[in-house]
Amino acid sequence: MSKLVVKNVTLNYVNESKSWTKALENLNFSVDKGEFLSIIGPSGCGKSTILNLFTGLLSASEGEILLDGKKISGTGLDRGVVFQHYSLFPWMSAKKNISFALRQSFPAKSKKELAAVAEEYLAKMGLKGFEDKFPAELSGGMQQRVAIAKALAMDTELILMDEPFGAVDSKTRVVLQDQLLKMWDSGSERKTVVFITHDIDEAIFLSDRIIVMSSGPGRVKREIPVSFARPRDRFSFTKETGYAHLRNEIVNLFYDDLADKIGGEEVVL
Ligand SMILES: Nc1ncnc2c1ncn2[C@@H]1O[C@H](COP(=O)(O)OP(=O)(O)OP(=O)(O)O)[C@@H](O)[C@H]1O
Ligand SMILES: [Mg+2]
Repeated sequence: MSKLVVKNVTLNYVNESKSWTKALENLNFSVDKGEFLSIIGPSGCGKSTILNLFTGLLSASEGEILLDGKKISGTGLDRGVVFQHYSLFPWMSAKKNISFALRQSFPAKSKKELAAVAEEYLAKMGLKGFEDKFPAELSGGMQQRVAIAKALAMDTELILMDEPFGAVDSKTRVVLQDQLLKMWDSGSERKTVVFITHDIDEAIFLSDRIIVMSSGPGRVKREIPVSFARPRDRFSFTKETGYAHLRNEIVNLFYDDLADKIGGEEVVL
C-alpha cells in the first residue's frame, strides 16, 4: 500500500520580479508504507523541493501529492521532518527544543514525561550530557543530531529527512546510519522514510529503493530496488553478490553528465 503518491507534479518557483524557475516537471513516483526510500541527484535537481512538498510547506503548481490517499493541503503533526539546514530554536536548550515539539504531538503527557522522552532520544543520538546546551553551544553535527532526535521522538509514521548527515563527520555518520536503521527496524511496524542524500554508499546501505533524479527541472531518471537482506552489516554487506554491479549502475547514472564531459567513458569511483 502506498504511503505517498506523487502524481504528475510540476513545481514552479515564482520570484518577486515574476520570473520563475521550473524546479520539478511532471514527477511521478510513490512510496510504500514501511519503505525506506532514498532520493539522490545533482545539486539543484529539486530534492529539497520534493521534501517541502511532502511537508506541506509548498504546494504543487500542477498535479497532486497524496498522503494515505488524501491530498496534502498543509503541514501536519503526522510527519517528522529533518531539514537540510539546522532547524532548532536558538533560545531553547537541546532538551527543550525536543520537548516543545513533543508537546504539540502529545498534549496529554506531563512535562516530566516529555522531558524523559527527550532525554531518551538525545541519548540514542549520543548526546547524553548535552541536554541543557543551547544550539549555539553545539557543533553543527551535534545540532543536526538534536534535530534528528526531535523528528524520531515524535514517533510519526512518516519521516522526511533532507541530507540529515551532510554536516556530520564520517565516523559519526556511520554511527548515526546504524542508529537510524536500528530505530526504523525496531517497534511493531516500520516507519516510512524518505531520505535525501548525495552519498551513494549511504543510499545503498539504508534503502529498500533508490530514486535517481536528473538535473533540473527534476525528473525521475531511474528507480532502483535494493533488495539485500536486513539487518545489514556494513562490513560484510559490500561483499554481497550484486553489490558492486548495483553501485556501479548508480555511479554511472549519477555522473553521466560528467561522463559526457570527459568523453563518454564509463565512470568508476
Ligand atoms: N525559494 C526558491 N525560489 C526560487 N527558486 C528556488 C527556490 N528554492 C529552490 N529554488 C530553485 O529550484 C531548484 C531546485 O532546488 P532544490 O533546493 O530543491 O534543489 P536540491 O536538489 O535540494 O539541491 P541541493 O542538493 O543543493 O540541496 C534550483 O534550481 C533552485 O535554484
Ligand atoms: Mg537540497
